[in-house]
Amino acid sequence: MTETLRPRRSCLAVPGSNPRFLEKAKTLNSDQVFLDLEDACAPLAKPGARKNIVAALNEGGWGERIRTVRVNDWTTHWTYRDVIEVVEGAGQNLDCIMLPKVQSADQVVALDILLTQIEKTMGFEVGKIGIEAQIENAQGLIAVDAIAKASPRVETIIFGPADFMASINMKSLVVGEQPPGYDVGDAYHHILMSILMAARANNKQAIDGPYLQVRDPDGYRRVTARSAALGFDGKWVLHPDQIGIANELFSPTQEQYDHAEMILDAYDWCTSEAGGKKGSAMLGDEMIDEASRKMALVISGKGRAAGMARTTSFTPPES
Ligand code: GLV
Ligand code: MG
Repeated sequence: MTETLRPRRSCLAVPGSNPRFLEKAKTLNSDQVFLDLEDACAPLAKPGARKNIVAALNEGGWGERIRTVRVNDWTTHWTYRDVIEVVEGAGQNLDCIMLPKVQSADQVVALDILLTQIEKTMGFEVGKIGIEAQIENAQGLIAVDAIAKASPRVETIIFGPADFMASINMKSLVVGEQPPGYDVGDAYHHILMSILMAARANNKQAIDGPYLQVRDPDGYRRVTARSAALGFDGKWVLHPDQIGIANELFSPTQEQYDHAEMILDAYDWCTSEAGGKKGSAMLGDEMIDEASRKMALVISGKGRAAGMARTTSFTPPES
């Protein structure tokens, strides 16, 4: 687990039951992969999928991607075997365990304790494996702040829209799109904002879940742009065509990035001795101050994490 969380603009879902997809995922440019033992694996395929995942992780070839495995949730009888088999088998080649359908802080604590025992038994660094918590029902959303705080291992809070829609009886079958008949706003706004608040209050990443219409890149772009605009850090991708869109939308545009770096430089200069130790200044037609610096830090942080290079430079005004 790292203090500075690595970018997760695009989080690629890969069914653990399909060795061909596991191999292919190593060639795609998503920031993260999560190898799935939960809903993308049929019950009878789960034991084989655990073995495929351990082998794929240990074979290597994942580059800088964050390697996560999604286990089954604690209400099933599969969770403990998922965790033990995957972490004992490939714990040194694994960054995080994703826990779906989290309903309480206790469920995160239970996973934390199990991980600690496995790490100690295997001689792995204790606390290195992170936890990604999926919020997929009303109970989880109500407890989201406690879930985010439940363990220092927690790195992300993830919205699981498909299970969430089912759990609250939403009258729709199209994940991420507005339910037919609801025409007075965004039906997901409260959920997304609650997850984002819990993530920001606890220094975690907020991740949006899947968009199932994989042959509709425009739909993916429209829905992804919303959570990106709110401040989410990334979104799931189910198809290679969605990866580029997520990477683009969760990074600033070149213009936003350049502007943010200019604000930082201009603010640095105006608060310095040479710049007159001023708390605010003009950058072109815009007044900037400490709050502008904080906003600029967010955009520049996203741009730097995405490897962007600035195309403008700051020249202090003649005094
Ligand atoms: C993801 O797990 C979802 O339920 O949307
Ligand atoms: Mg789900």
